Amino acid sequence: MFYELAASSWGDEEIEAMQRVIQSGILTMGENVRRFESAFCEKFGVKHALMVSSGSTANLVGVAALFYKKQRPLQRGDEVIVPAISWSTTYYPLQQYGLKLRFVDVELDTLNMDVSKLKQALTPRTRMVMAVSILGNPCALDVLRAFCDEHDLYLFEDNCESMGATLDGRQCGTFGDIGTFSCFFSHHISTMEGGVIVTGDDETYQLAKSMRAHGWTRDLPADAEIYQKRDDDFYEAYRFILPGYNARPLELSGAIGVEQLKKLDRMIETRRRNAALFVSLFGNDERFIIQRENGGSSWFAFTVILNPKLGMDRKKIMAALKAADIGYRIITGGNFLRHDVIKYFDYDCVGEIVNADIAHDRGFFVGNHPHDLTPQIRRLHEVLDRAAR
Ligand SMILES: Cc1ncc(COP(=O)(O)O)c(C=O)c1O
Repeated sequence: MFYELAASSWGDEEIEAMQRVIQSGILTMGENVRRFESAFCEKFGVKHALMVSSGSTANLVGVAALFYKKQRPLQRGDEVIVPAISWSTTYYPLQQYGLKLRFVDVELDTLNMDVSKLKQALTPRTRMVMAVSILGNPCALDVLRAFCDEHDLYLFEDNCESMGATLDGRQCGTFGDIGTFSCFFSHHISTMEGGVIVTGDDETYQLAKSMRAHGWTRDLPADAEIYQKRDDDFYEAYRFILPGYNARPLELSGAIGVEQLKKLDRMIETRRRNAALFVSLFGNDERFIIQRENGGSSWFAFTVILNPKLGMDRKKIMAALKAADIGYRIITGGNFLRHDVIKYFDYDCVGEIVNADIAHDRGFFVGNHPHDLTPQIRRLHEVLDRAAR
């Protein structure tokens, strides 16, 4: 394809790292995963990083952990404020743990939660806000953090689309009580499958660590605060304390992650250079609404929404993209409320959901890669310019 939605970010280093793991014969979670976690802590300036099998299991284990905290655990029936656009597995753990979702519309330009609706979203049952930075673009994390502090709410940051993005010089994913990252193919780093949970809180980290692996005590420090170690090695070796999962990553993913992290800054610089070209071509064209950067985006992709005031036909535009061999797709998952699965959720909406529908019906995204995309972006511009006339 002339312009793919995503491209590999691997070089020889990742292949060699995998070969070393295979030769070592230790393939399940071990030293390489620990090395990746330490490198992640250093890179993002966080106290704890826990690698898991995907961004989705990072969200699942992260939400689960908050149900077992000693002080103010989440409880079934509690409410969570969520944006109307995100990936399905931002929402699933909330449903699976019996939480009620309150959907807030997004801004049409940033595509992130419209924080002017936060006050309206708050009820006496609100316990958490789900902050999602869409496609590399930081959401109003500063506002959300202050709101959560003021109302004693958890801030859960699903940063699975925005590794390396910053707001006021601070890394996205580190504003929340918990932050999650995805290392799936096409994301800012790829470990095949993989995800990371970060937190500054020892208890949350220990709960998540136990829940990552069967809810047992292995790997927890002897002085862990979430259980009392006893003096009987036989029973201690298989001691289950929490209803957890197996969300462990493979050693292969840990070893690849170590190599990918070393390249992250360079890859984001390239993504940002591609973005500068994209913005220079589309930024002042009223036919196309492109994502307005809030802070420093790590530009996962380039979104285009056909201006609803101008009545262009998306089908025609998409046919032109197809003919030009340019990949395109819905923006993240579109308006989540429009999916069949919503019938299983306990939810309501805070006011009308208008912009998420516009993004759903009139938007799409094309890829950004950690490689130079000058010819592809220029061609994209020619194709869209002609098709939208
Ligand atoms: C916002 C968001 N959360 C969670 C996920 C899930 O990550 P994974 O694909 O690693 O399970 C994604 C996937 O792209 C995502 O975009």
